[in-house]
Amino acid sequence: MTYEFILSEKKGRVGLITLNRPKQMNALNAKVMQEMAAALYAFDADEGVGCILITGNDKAFAAGADIAAMKDYSYMDAYKSDYITRDWEHLRKIRKPVIAAVAGYALGGGCELTMMCDLAIAAENAKFGQPEINLGIMPGSGGTQRLPRFTSKAIAMDLCLTARMLDAQEALRAGLVSRVVPVDTLMEQALAMAEKIAGYSLPVVMMIKESINRAYETSLAEGVLFERRVFHSQFALEDQKEGMAAFVEKRKPTFKHR
Ligand code: CAA
Repeated sequence: MTYEFILSEKKGRVGLITLNRPKQMNALNAKVMQEMAAALYAFDADEGVGCILITGNDKAFAAGADIAAMKDYSYMDAYKSDYITRDWEHLRKIRKPVIAAVAGYALGGGCELTMMCDLAIAAENAKFGQPEINLGIMPGSGGTQRLPRFTSKAIAMDLCLTARMLDAQEALRAGLVSRVVPVDTLMEQALAMAEKIAGYSLPVVMMIKESINRAYETSLAEGVLFERRVFHSQFALEDQKEGMAAFVEKRKPTFKHR
């Protein structure tokens, strides 16, 4: 399938989505989000894909929601069209891991998109921020909720109330990204990370994602109980038998993703 504002391709067992509106710094309009959703659902349904990677270009991962597209919205336009919820929340339904590979600006909705992914790897030139306050609005795609959970209340307040940007090293220290790499190696390293994940047993990978995400949505006791039940269920997997047999027999496991 060909898209107008994204590129979608398979690299081995990795589904790669590249935001492709470079002249607008990959500003996120409805079409971009609808195309991204279509590509995400296609990769999620594809047995040959084990991990999904979302990236932009060297200058911008995404500079936020498309300001030109929304500047004349009325309250009724936003409310009736369920702006953000309708086109942006699909990412939350994807069951395979989604990695954000961020170079350049990840601002507003771009920073929020990063946080909706399961993990993020940043290039040294990455800049993260929630500058919506400059526009007379607040973050509207989960920024006020995910930033304090992922970083801290103080950092969330700082970014949202002053529009300050975090550079890549600050984002690493704050817990927003898990790795920082040189710009020219970002894709190589992000793909290597995605390929590694995609090489493991797919049901186990999906269960780990589901369990870690539980940590954000429930109490510790409930989360641990959820983890324990999912862990017990893994003894029904062929891949558990293969993985442990391979360890005992001192060979590499061959996972069948079931
Ligand atoms: N929406 C629409 N167009 C955008 C855009 C956005 N979010 N960000 C950049 N662009 C466009 C610019 O209008 C410009 O277009 P023209 O060439 O036609 O003039 C082009 O991309 C290049 O941008 P700049 O000339 O501004 O490039 P720069 O290098 O000087 O600055 C930047 C880069 C710091 C990212 C700056 O463009 C900027 O501040 N962008 C807006 C960032 C922002 O406020 N994001 C939040 C959006 S609101 C939101 O996301 C709400 C939400 O929570 C969902």
